[in-house]
Amino acid sequence: MDDRIIVYREMTLPDIEQVYAIECASFTQPWSVESLVGEVVENDVACYFVAECEGRIVGYAGEWVMYDESHMTNIAVIPEFRRSGVATRLILSLMRAASVKGAKRMTLEVREFNFGAQALYASLSFTKVGIRKKYYSDTGENAFILWNDDINATLAENSDKL
Ligand SMILES: CC(C)(COP(=O)(O)OP(=O)(O)OC[C@H]1O[C@@H](n2cnc3c(N)ncnc32)[C@H](O)[C@@H]1OP(=O)(O)O)[C@@H](O)C(=O)NCCC(=O)NCCS
Repeated sequence: MDDRIIVYREMTLPDIEQVYAIECASFTQPWSVESLVGEVVENDVACYFVAECEGRIVGYAGEWVMYDESHMTNIAVIPEFRRSGVATRLILSLMRAASVKGAKRMTLEVREFNFGAQALYASLSFTKVGIRKKYYSDTGENAFILWNDDINATLAENSDKL
């Protein structure tokens, strides 16, 4: 990666066209445009961030914050910008927003064979606490359920990245 500046900010409606394109390129079962719009317009517990470089959306991530828990819904970074800390900073942005709303913990599901994403989550102190059998209908893969039980500690450990 070069030294172009990447801005992390909350997702807005005009971002959705680009976010949807990344969603389609990244997942076999992408969220629809309508679902993404609903997250921004109607879902009071939803919070989404994008990573923007020179006017182009290069990654995004979302969560639902309920009571003292955040549930991460999705995350993707375009291939050109991977392995340069974009997803890490998106997740930290979600954690900070969740913490401000009073959340203490964060959970997510990851495919059992998505080893890259599992390494990302392990680097941010997520641990495996359970399995949802055959959760993904396209491949029949199991989902690993991960939790980070202290997002404030993870934020403090990574304060140099925010
Ligand atoms: C998974 C994904 C979001 C990671 O994004 P990213 O911006 O490349 O992640 P980061 O650069 O923040 O990675 C941080 C660390 O996580 C680990 N990691 C991330 N991707 C990895 C990979 N493909 N293989 C091994 N380790 C990986 C590494 O430890 C990495 O640190 P390093 O680059 O210094 O070694 C990205 O590969 C992606 O969009 N994949 C397709 C969509 C997807 O699978 N989303 C997750 C659904 S659960």
